[in-house]
Amino acid sequence: MSSNEMKNVDGKVDRRTFLQSAAVAGASLALSGNALAQAVAQPAKPNLAGPKGIDDLNVGVIGLGAQGQVLIEAASGIPGVRFKAVCDIWEYHQKLVGGRLRKTGYDVKTYEDYRELLAQEKDLDAVIVATPDWMHAEIANACMEAGKHVYCEKEMSNSLEKARSMVMTQRKTGKLLQIGHQRRSNPRYIHAIDRLIREANILGRVTHAYGQWNRSIADSLGWPKKYAIDQAKLDKYGYVSMDQFRNWRWYKKYGGGPIVDLGSHQIDLFSWIWGCNPSAIVAMGGMDYYKGREWYDNVMTIYEFNTPEGTNRAYYQVLTTTKRGGFYEQFMGVNGALTISEVAARGDTVEREAHAPSWDEYAKKGWLKPVKEAIKPTTTRNVAVDVRVTAEAGKWPLPIELLKPAHQPHLENFFDAVRGRAKLNCPGEVAYETAVAVLKANDAVAAGRKLEFKPEEFKV
Ligand SMILES: NC(=O)c1ccc[n+]([C@@H]2O[C@H](COP(=O)([O-])OP(=O)(O)OC[C@H]3O[C@@H](n4cnc5c(N)ncnc54)[C@H](O)[C@@H]3O)[C@@H](O)[C@H]2O)c1
Repeated sequence: MSSNEMKNVDGKVDRRTFLQSAAVAGASLALSGNALAQAVAQPAKPNLAGPKGIDDLNVGVIGLGAQGQVLIEAASGIPGVRFKAVCDIWEYHQKLVGGRLRKTGYDVKTYEDYRELLAQEKDLDAVIVATPDWMHAEIANACMEAGKHVYCEKEMSNSLEKARSMVMTQRKTGKLLQIGHQRRSNPRYIHAIDRLIREANILGRVTHAYGQWNRSIADSLGWPKKYAIDQAKLDKYGYVSMDQFRNWRWYKKYGGGPIVDLGSHQIDLFSWIWGCNPSAIVAMGGMDYYKGREWYDNVMTIYEFNTPEGTNRAYYQVLTTTKRGGFYEQFMGVNGALTISEVAARGDTVEREAHAPSWDEYAKKGWLKPVKEAIKPTTTRNVAVDVRVTAEAGKWPLPIELLKPAHQPHLENFFDAVRGRAKLNCPGEVAYETAVAVLKANDAVAAGRKLEFKPEEFKV
């Protein structure tokens, strides 16, 4: 049994039990996204500072850039989360985020060096790590060694050796390590993949999957000149220049380029769908548009999965010169295709093939949205959609909406696990398997030929 499957059979609250309990809590959950949101929403309990309540958790955040700020915002909506310490080597982000948190009412200290934070902050329960990828292992390992549970952003690392060290430290310390592949806790994805595709098998054999993340051209990131970091400090923390510090994603020392940065979210879904890891990959790509950066600005890959049903294939592309189609994933089976995106407006339907068995039983159970309800002209998505055309085309909207920040459910899962009430949806071992699959895409571009995966490559 793969670790993907194991996550669904644990006795604690995993994705499936979450769905079941949410369904019990709100009988009309599957028919109404609002019902789901209300069922899972909890009243705010602002104990931001002062004595710690029984359910309160003291939390530190290391890395306060774009994603650190997104995670702080999402975690602020979770009762019992108290930010006590934040850390960033860049004074600009330290001041910005520390100031905002203090204004909100958190009693928070700011640090430049994570080692200083760990030395001073003895009563932290958990740390969120959102630095560039190359620092994840060093920081997450130090946090776990210091007795903290860790939520670390994806990609786990830009090197498999470092990613492996995270799994080993997690095992040695017994602390929790959740990696930020947040779709794994998103109720829309759990419903689509665990319930509709894996449990109900509504698509039949999923022979192919597709994923893309396309972005418009963008200039390199700049910085306010008054907050430029001097060279001595950049050297101390391992950054070659201010440009590389800001645009780390494009340089081999710090990250894996767009295929790793963006693809890691979506390539992760292929092994979830098929319950196994890929057996081979081919890829092409290059640095064909931008000048002076190191990583490929476009990559097109095909992964092969040898499943018990036969060989299935997944195509994935990342383009940084056009936003055409944005980002979404598609799972194509012999009886239908499911299109989904983290942003529902980009993908939110299941299409039935004309020859497929009826899906009415799933509509009755609330697992699919009945077509008639879906085409009420009051919903923006369906304005001007002809009832008959929609029904004949066999497009069934997914019944669940996520009315909270996209990262919140994954953080909730982490904090519930810290409290001993849940099992992690993306522990280090699972994310390691994804890292093996994702990082190989860059190797395959460089090799210019099909590369095989050995099953033991996915094990630590
Ligand atoms: N899950 C998601 O959807 C998602 C989205 C975006 C980014 N991410 C991940 O989040 C991480 C951060 O990405 P970002 O977009 O916020 O990058 P960013 O460049 O905006 O922020 C990184 C921050 O880390 C700080 N930093 C760098 N080295 C540090 C160190 N040694 N100690 C402390 N702070 C340090 C920088 O000063 C900066 O403030 C990356 O791993 C990225 O892959 C995940």
